[in-house]
Amino acid sequence: MAHQENIPFTPSGKSFTAVAINTAAKAGEWIKSKLGSHTTLSLKYSPQDLVTEVDKGSETMIRKLILTHFPTHSILGEEGVEPGPEASAKALTEMSGAEYLWIVDPIDGTTNFVHGFPFYTVSIALAYKGEVIVGVVYDPSRDELFVAEKGKGAYLRGKPMKVSGEAKLTDSLLATGFPADREGALPLNMAGLQHLAPKVRNVRIAGSAALHLAYVAAGRLSGFWEIGLNSWDTAAGALLVQESGGQVTDMEGNPYSLSIRDIAASNGTIQQDLLQELKAAATIGS
Ligand code: IPD
Ligand code: CA
Ligand code: CA
Repeated sequence: MAHQENIPFTPSGKSFTAVAINTAAKAGEWIKSKLGSHTTLSLKYSPQDLVTEVDKGSETMIRKLILTHFPTHSILGEEGVEPGPEASAKALTEMSGAEYLWIVDPIDGTTNFVHGFPFYTVSIALAYKGEVIVGVVYDPSRDELFVAEKGKGAYLRGKPMKVSGEAKLTDSLLATGFPADREGALPLNMAGLQHLAPKVRNVRIAGSAALHLAYVAAGRLSGFWEIGLNSWDTAAGALLVQESGGQVTDMEGNPYSLSIRDIAASNGTIQQDLLQELKAAATIGS
């Protein structure tokens, strides 16, 4: 297969990005049409880990649309994987050999969706040999489509996105999440929150990791961190942040990769300070 570095090969004539955009937009509109009318609500890994028939329907729709254009590609979707951190890590490892791997969260922010809190999204990323080359996050509540292509920038409503300019934590608006893993990840994240809240301008916890990352990319948040996320929560959002001039690492400062579960993302300028404070919080919290 002819392939130039970083230039996606398009077997069907339709570009990867166009398919990601169309798919996320279609799934997002469908999800929005189901708001307030889901009929099943099940618990997955913990009482806070929810799934509805709309999550499953969205993933089925996304899989069909992607495979129509790229039948040989692989897809890692949240609802196709057993719940829990071990199963997620195993699924990612099993699929890591795929040349083209789509990474899908059919609804990121299911708790918000269930309660009618309009902060949920569809997240679709495409990785080529393990490296994310396309990332799309679609927020149907505001009709905002965040798009990034590796090496080509990130866009919202056709305009390039740029991370915010805060240079100090005291001037920064951060976001985090309350992970569904109540035993391991939640207490660690709470320690970070307790430690950071007095040191920053404020912290938002709105319930969608992918949308928080998109907001970092758009300059609406200075940074975001969360312990215990999965590749489908972060793959598209991480590329959005990187392509908007920001930085995404694990808690040690290693660059983003799909296997990272603990993530710190920011405008880049505050990254070292953020990591330093999170390290201090983990030491105190343990
Ligand atoms: C969750 C959301 C939430 C984050 C959790 C995720 P889901 O994803 O991103 O903001 O705090 O850790 O699991 O379950 O709504 O797809
Ligand atoms: Ca998610
Ligand atoms: Ca989800």
